[in-house]
Amino acid sequence: MRTNAPDHDPAPRPAAGDGAVTVFAPASIGNLAAGFDVLGVALAPLDGEPWGDFVTAAPAAADELRCRGPFAARLPADPRENLVWRAREAVARRLGAPLPPLALTLHKGLPVASGLGSSAASAVAAVVAIDEALGRPLGDAGRLAAAAEAEASASGAIHLDNVAPILFGGVRLIAGDAGPRELPWPDDLRFVLLLPELALPTRQARAVLPPAVPLPLVVAHAQNLATLVHALHAGERPLLAASLRDLLVEPHRAPLVPGFAAVQAAAREAGALGCSLSGAGPALFAVAAAAHAAAVGERAAAAWRRAGIACRIRLCRVDPHGARRVEG
Ligand code: HSE
Repeated sequence: MRTNAPDHDPAPRPAAGDGAVTVFAPASIGNLAAGFDVLGVALAPLDGEPWGDFVTAAPAAADELRCRGPFAARLPADPRENLVWRAREAVARRLGAPLPPLALTLHKGLPVASGLGSSAASAVAAVVAIDEALGRPLGDAGRLAAAAEAEASASGAIHLDNVAPILFGGVRLIAGDAGPRELPWPDDLRFVLLLPELALPTRQARAVLPPAVPLPLVVAHAQNLATLVHALHAGERPLLAASLRDLLVEPHRAPLVPGFAAVQAAAREAGALGCSLSGAGPALFAVAAAAHAAAVGERAAAAWRRAGIACRIRLCRVDPHGARRVEG
């Protein structure tokens, strides 16, 4: 009925004409340093390889869930805890009716508990694939709400800073009931993703955060976030560099990531405009001019290796598209 079989196939390939829909959902950075729970960006690697999760939804005689891909073995053994299943339930709740039987296949291309919006990618890919297979009854707002609800079951809280950019693409500001808004991003700036051989579940990284913070910190955080948003709209590079920092949650989470301070310092010394946790971590991201991005990655990764932790680098730009049908 259901298997979690690792493989290295880039995506499931349903036979043409079987009614199957396959959707790709990209990796992402939540928070973007200054915007805890309210800023995020969808990522497209410069090497052109798809970096994300795929979900295929196909009409079937009975419900079915299969998990494939390099990180399938790390998924929960109980199908009811799988984000794809949770997404299916969230879609049904929003539509207020049971769904027809579907064969769902998750190709898990993102590592779990990595800081790349892995749970959100599975949830978004599943919601969009199911919605497409059903003839698109949800609409954008319904897709966002269903994916957020499914993702929250893994992370412990509704936050859209991964879900929204994964779904719609671009750099996104979560603007409350108004819906996510796209922010401009300078063409020449790259995201350098630093991926350590560590895992940190978002639920755990949220559990270390204080329930309340002092008013002066709230003011400093608000000022910094507003400055970043202004810097992006105005194209003010020094202001962007000054505000690509996290005053609010990084101090609490950095101790959960061995080597954090050395890696951040190395990235900045190599010319990064900013460097912080990607989402809840343990991955870090740096922002650097295209000409410096590779050197920033190498210097920062070397710092992590000196701390005894293997680290991979991925250079990315903004993915302007977000989740999309790739076949079917
Ligand atoms: N905004 C979220 C957090 C991103 O920092 O907890 C991780 O899902």
